[in-house]
Amino acid sequence: MIDIGEILRRELGSERVLLRGDDRLEPYGRDESPLPQVFPPDCAALCDDAEQVATVLRLCAEHRVPVTPRGAGSGMCGGALPVRGGVVLSTEKMQRILEVDADDMVAVVEPGVVTGNLAEAASAAGLFYPPDPASLEYCSIGGNAATNAGGPRAFKYGVTREYILGLEVALMGGERLRCGRRTAKGVTGYDLVAGFVGTEGTFGVITELVVKLLPKPQGAATALAVFADVAGAGACISALLRSGLRPSVLELADRASIDHVRHKSRYRFPASAGAVVLIEIDGDPEDLQTQIERIGMACDEQGAVDVLVASDAAERRGLWEARRLISPCLKEAHTIKVNEDVCVPRGRIVEMLRRVDRISADTGIDVAVFGHAGDGNLHVNLLSNDDPGDPAVRAHVMAAAHRLFVETIELRGTLSGEHGIGTSKRDFLPMEQSEALLEWQRKWKRMWDPLELLNPGKVIPDGVSRCSE
Ligand code: MLT
Ligand code: ZN
Repeated sequence: MIDIGEILRRELGSERVLLRGDDRLEPYGRDESPLPQVFPPDCAALCDDAEQVATVLRLCAEHRVPVTPRGAGSGMCGGALPVRGGVVLSTEKMQRILEVDADDMVAVVEPGVVTGNLAEAASAAGLFYPPDPASLEYCSIGGNAATNAGGPRAFKYGVTREYILGLEVALMGGERLRCGRRTAKGVTGYDLVAGFVGTEGTFGVITELVVKLLPKPQGAATALAVFADVAGAGACISALLRSGLRPSVLELADRASIDHVRHKSRYRFPASAGAVVLIEIDGDPEDLQTQIERIGMACDEQGAVDVLVASDAAERRGLWEARRLISPCLKEAHTIKVNEDVCVPRGRIVEMLRRVDRISADTGIDVAVFGHAGDGNLHVNLLSNDDPGDPAVRAHVMAAAHRLFVETIELRGTLSGEHGIGTSKRDFLPMEQSEALLEWQRKWKRMWDPLELLNPGKVIPDGVSRCSE
C-alpha cells in the first residue's frame, strides 16, 4: 500500500503536507455544505505555487490516488470534500496579486487570493471587480471561478465567468496549460476558459487567473423597501423588472431571514417588516438621487409599507453587513439548514415564492427565503432543530428539498443559480438534465481525467453505461 502523504512530503517538504493524526487536517474534511458527514482525507498538500500543484497532480496520477482541489472551503455543495479520500490539494496559500494593470484593465492573480482583497486592490487602482459573493471576505477567487460564483451584483454585472479572461491550469498528470487571453475580446479557438470555469475543479486545478476589471462606479445609493409579506415583495421585484429601471442589486429577504439577523446587526430593521427588498443603484452621483426616488415611487405603487434610503456610507455598510449575516445567522440557530439555491425564470418569481410557502405548509418544515430574487435566484433554506443524526429527520428535510426541485423544474428553472452541484445535489441533476446530456459531460470529463481521480464523485452522477465500456 503506497503512502501518498510520505511521497508528497519528499517532493514538497514536510511542512506543506498535513498527515492523519495532525489536528490541522480535520477542517479539510468539511466545507460549508449541509452534509452531515465529515470526509477525512489521507493528507492535505498546501501548495505555494503552480509547480507544486502540478507535482501533486503528477504524483496522484502516477500512484492512482484521488485528489480533491480546495480553495477557502466556503463552498455550499460539498464540491471541495474528499468524498473518496486521498489527497486534498489546497491553493489557500497561493495569495499573490501578481498585477493590477490600470491600462489593460486586468488583474493577474493566484487562486488563493481572497475575493474581497482582489476587489480592494482593484479599487485602489481606480478600478472595479464586480462579483461579490456574500462570503467575499473569506472565499477565494480560484473557488469563485471553479464554481462560477455569483452574488448580489450579478443582477447588473453578471457572474464570475464574465470576468475571467484567461487561466493557467494544472491538469491531472502534471501538465500546465494556459488558455484564454488578456484582451477585452477574442474568439481564437474554442473557449476553454468557459470550459474550466464552473466545472468545480473536476477538469483541472486553476493556478493563475487573468481577471477583467471595470471602471469604478463614482457613487452608489441603497434603499430598503419594506413590505407586509413576501408575496408583496416578490410582486414589487417583478414590477421593477418590467419597469425598465436598472438597479445594480435587487435582493429579497423574507420575515424569517430578517428576524434571524435583526438582533445581530447594527442595521435596525423595522419591527413590522414582513419582507424587504434591498435595492442598490450605482453610477454618476448627480443621477443617484433622481433614480432612487423613481425606484422608491415604484415601490410605493407596489404597496411598500415604507422605503428607507440609507443616509450615509455607514448606514449602507450596516445594511450590507446585515444582508451578509443572514446565512450565518440561520446556520447558527438551527441544527439543520439545507440551503437550496434554485433559480427560476424572472417571470415566475412570484409563483415560485407561492410554491415555497406551500411546500413549507405541506411538509411542516420551516423555511427562510432570501437572495438574488431579481435574477430569480432564491436561497430557500429548509430549517430544523431536530436531531441531525436521525435518518428520518434528514429524510423529511430532503423530501421537502426534492419537492422544491420538482416545482423549480416545473417552472422551467434550474437547481442551482450560483452555488453549484458538488456532491450534495449530484443525485438530483437527472431531474434537470437528460441522460444524453449527462453522458456527453461524462465524456468531456474523461478527456481531462481519464482515470477519474480529480475531484471524483462530483457534479455528474455516475452513468449506467460506464461499467460496460
Ligand atoms: C448568499 O447569498 O448569502 C450566499 O449565497 C450564501 C447563502 O446562500 O447561504
Ligand atoms: Zn447567494
